[in-house]
Amino acid sequence: MTQIGSWRLEVDSERIAWLTCDVQGASTNVLSAAVLRDLAGALDQLPGMRPAGVVVSSAKANGFVAGADIKEFLNVRTPEDGYSLVRAGQTVLDRLEHLPCPSVAAVHGFALGGGLELALACRYRIGADDAKLSLGLPEVLLGIHPGFGGTVRAVRLMGVRPAMELMLKGKPFKGARALEVGLLDELVAPAELKARAKRLLQQPPAIKTAPFVEKLLNLEAVRPFVARKAAASLREKVPREHYPAPYVILELWQHYGAAGAESYEAEARSIGTLMCSPTSRNLVRVFLLQDRLKGLGGKPQIDFRHVHVIGAGVMGGDIAAWAALRGLRVTLQDRSEALIQPALARAKAYFDKRLNAPGAAAEALSRLRMDVAGAGVTDADVLIEAIVEDADAKRALYAQIEPRLKPNAVLATNTSSIKIETLAEGLKDPGRLVGIHFFNPVAQMQLVEIVQGPVTRAEVARAAASFARKLDKLPLPCKSAPGFVVNRILMPYINEALFALADGIPAAVIDHAATRFGMPMGPIELADVIGLDVALHVGRVLAEAFRRPVPQVLLKLVDQRKFGRKSGEGFYVWREGKPVRTRAQNAEIPPDLEDRLVLPMLNEAAACLREGVIEDADLLDAGAVFGTGFAPFRGGPLQYAKERGVDKIMLRLSELEQRFGERFRPDAGWRTLLASTQPPM
Ligand code: NAI
Repeated sequence: MTQIGSWRLEVDSERIAWLTCDVQGASTNVLSAAVLRDLAGALDQLPGMRPAGVVVSSAKANGFVAGADIKEFLNVRTPEDGYSLVRAGQTVLDRLEHLPCPSVAAVHGFALGGGLELALACRYRIGADDAKLSLGLPEVLLGIHPGFGGTVRAVRLMGVRPAMELMLKGKPFKGARALEVGLLDELVAPAELKARAKRLLQQPPAIKTAPFVEKLLNLEAVRPFVARKAAASLREKVPREHYPAPYVILELWQHYGAAGAESYEAEARSIGTLMCSPTSRNLVRVFLLQDRLKGLGGKPQIDFRHVHVIGAGVMGGDIAAWAALRGLRVTLQDRSEALIQPALARAKAYFDKRLNAPGAAAEALSRLRMDVAGAGVTDADVLIEAIVEDADAKRALYAQIEPRLKPNAVLATNTSSIKIETLAEGLKDPGRLVGIHFFNPVAQMQLVEIVQGPVTRAEVARAAASFARKLDKLPLPCKSAPGFVVNRILMPYINEALFALADGIPAAVIDHAATRFGMPMGPIELADVIGLDVALHVGRVLAEAFRRPVPQVLLKLVDQRKFGRKSGEGFYVWREGKPVRTRAQNAEIPPDLEDRLVLPMLNEAAACLREGVIEDADLLDAGAVFGTGFAPFRGGPLQYAKERGVDKIMLRLSELEQRFGERFRPDAGWRTLLASTQPPM
């Protein structure tokens, strides 16, 4: 056996070479430049061994190879740097493809991005058939496209439609689909992966290529038509100005037809340019910020097994279901069985929809128990209080449960607006109370705010963050201040939309202005989705704290019991979960509207940072992207401000202040931000 950096190479008695990726000191294999260089080194040694075939596999338990090393993207300063980086990778994979003997990638778990491109360079691919198997080219999510020959080989192997689906959507294929489209040659029981890979090399079948119809679509005369149609449907989903990469993928294919040396060269040139685009820079930034949030969970100090949730309403019920889905034992308490029953029914429907494996839904449901008496309190590792938003009610409840908690149990509140210190007042040990603020809908919102009051012990906040990771959520540490971070920056955006509405701008136009900027949903629709009663409540808390007006229209609608989506009417009338409206046109958007909506968020972000509600600008941007959906390709509100120029933002805010009032007054925090973005004299 020979070890060449991250690769192990051994040849067995039947002259099969086993080339195994095992990146040292990492739990997951990634294709860094060094790992690719090592692969080249391993390929150098192969001819001397005269193998009958090569099996490429991974020594890691979790999967094959996760992709390129994204941190290396930060070193790419110019398109030329990007080109050189991927060209080097292409060259290595080209050598693998052209080995004189057959090769097979034996894939278990994930093969993503560069990992799948490595597998595509082998003559065959075989997959370990289980729920974890996932093969994908998710590069568009980072604003780029495959760069190690993937745009060429994927089309050649599967044909244009499945290859485009894989590349344009960025969503991986599971085993069955991968087999169906020819991405895999075989799908085998995980225990047989290696033996079957070897057999495939000993009796090599004909090499798969795209089916006949797909080859027709690839003809030079047909390609422009297919590409035009695909681009048109792409435009319905993502504008080119925001997300150029999928359009570029189509163009590469249209020009080169996934054939010839020039198609690889063009792929490398194109990715070099894309890597330096603001979209890709920001998406890479967001990806790394996500990693940072994950890291804030630290190494788990507590083995979280049992969660007790009090309050089985909208939030408590869904938090309990989510925790059960994630494998924890959950007891759910409310004032009567009848109040818990709807939460259990919701959980059952969700598990049935989400868990396909036989028995999995029933198993998840068996982890979730109704507990009116609150017997679960004494055994819980984490207690989450999600009862009505009333400080007295919450404090009365804590007085009952505190003496019954295990000494190290985390005591958490899901409050969205009450200060942690206010709630901790009556506790014997006020330092143990922490906020774990989930967002609605719990299953879809990745972010949770970990709210540390002035007396909350740091280790309690750390344990809460670690628990959030156990639930596969992203913890965002923040201080106990009105609205915390996410609601605080979201409300001025919604409020301004309502002021614009009062000025006579139609709701559909306001929402269109926001989505054109890149928000996933317009502010008016968002208010309806959040629930106007909830929005009013949060709005009032912030209005009181910062002496700001509450939009009258919100009061009026709540008075009329028009709560938005959940009641069937709010700003919009809702049918089948969708707002009824006619689509607005770009031309209808008044010149100031976009800044009117977006700049209040930026201004509030600057205030949060100045007040120390959040530790740094990066965390704030992460909170905005994962908590409010702030256009990810813009990298977050403060990143966007820096890109546009902090001085320009301040100026623009002053202009808007002149026109619309003091709510636009530039926050004092901009001055610090301005100083930090200007080069020292
Ligand atoms: P909800 O009104 O839907 O549910 C509250 C539940 O608590 C009810 O089922 C009620 O019977 C129960 N309850 C009240 N007092 C109780 C007691 N002493 N013992 C046991 N159960 C009791 O309220 P929702 O919306 O689920 O909110 C709960 C908490 O989550 C609040 O603190 C709220 O501010 C917070 N929150 C709400 C969000 C939302 O979008 N609804 C988002 C994030 C946080």
